[in-house]
Amino acid sequence: MDLAKEITYLKKKKHAVVLAHYYQVPEIQEVADYVGDSLGLSQRAAETDAEMIVFAGVHFMAETAKILNPNKKVLLPDLMAGCSLADSCPPEAFKKLIDANPNHVVITYINCSAEIKAMSDLVCTSSNAELIVNSIPKEVPIIFAPDKNLGKYIQKKTGRDLLLWDGSCIVHEAFSFDKLLKLYQQHPGSKIIAHPESESHILETANYVGSTAGMIDFVKKNPSEKFIVATEAGILHKMQEQVPQTVLIPAPAEEDNTCACSECAFMKMNTLQKLYNCLLNETPQIEVSETIREKAILPIERMLKLSK
Ligand code: 13P
Ligand code: SF4
Repeated sequence: MDLAKEITYLKKKKHAVVLAHYYQVPEIQEVADYVGDSLGLSQRAAETDAEMIVFAGVHFMAETAKILNPNKKVLLPDLMAGCSLADSCPPEAFKKLIDANPNHVVITYINCSAEIKAMSDLVCTSSNAELIVNSIPKEVPIIFAPDKNLGKYIQKKTGRDLLLWDGSCIVHEAFSFDKLLKLYQQHPGSKIIAHPESESHILETANYVGSTAGMIDFVKKNPSEKFIVATEAGILHKMQEQVPQTVLIPAPAEEDNTCACSECAFMKMNTLQKLYNCLLNETPQIEVSETIREKAILPIERMLKLSK
């Protein structure tokens, strides 16, 4: 069976839209109606008139789409596709931090659960975190969670003293600084681009730091013979399409156990077969309780309004 053709047929038949993140396997990106970063994907989820959303990404992304579309079916090809960053922020512990700092505005990175979003004033993504932090008056203290690396980076960019949660992404924390320097010595003159979930010593060496969409845009607009790319390797598919003549080198991880570059095991749980099965059977579906949803939608809508 030609899975891609069957998926295209089912999408039409069921009036479904497939939204995919840049870290998905190439064959999923090819059947998607839209491929983007977390902000682009939430904007598309907020705007779509499709009856069903199939989210080829991880759980928090599909959950955000469900919060925005309570009356639509939102499907995730593999319900186990989680996120180490989201898992690093359990609701009970986060509530304690908020209760201990009641005068703080709570800004959370979109990589967190619906429960955490429900406790937040504003949500942000890697592409608008600076804008969202700067939307709060200077004298108002801010809790920023769950990614400490993005938090430290935004702290530096804005000059704000943020109260940071101690969370991180296993994929971006795995980049090896020493191996990156060696790689650069082998490819002198190449440009280093990095995702802000990476540790600060990686970000300090980078010519550009930004979201996945921002990194693709930078490569397009700043021609160079070679780029060293410090983020999940799935991004190379769309990036290479934009700059076919350019050499793109994935940044090396500390322990190269399963692949030569950094892959997010959660993102890679989705396969074309699972995408087909979930469209066909309309399962597994994302559910969010109405009590959580009505609180969690507020910080997401504030973010979308500020990011127009
Ligand atoms: P972007 O919003 O930059 O695509 O990041 C999502 C993510 O999970 C990075 O690990
Ligand atoms: Fe989460 Fe990291 Fe995977 Fe992104 S790359 S989904 S932050 S575990």
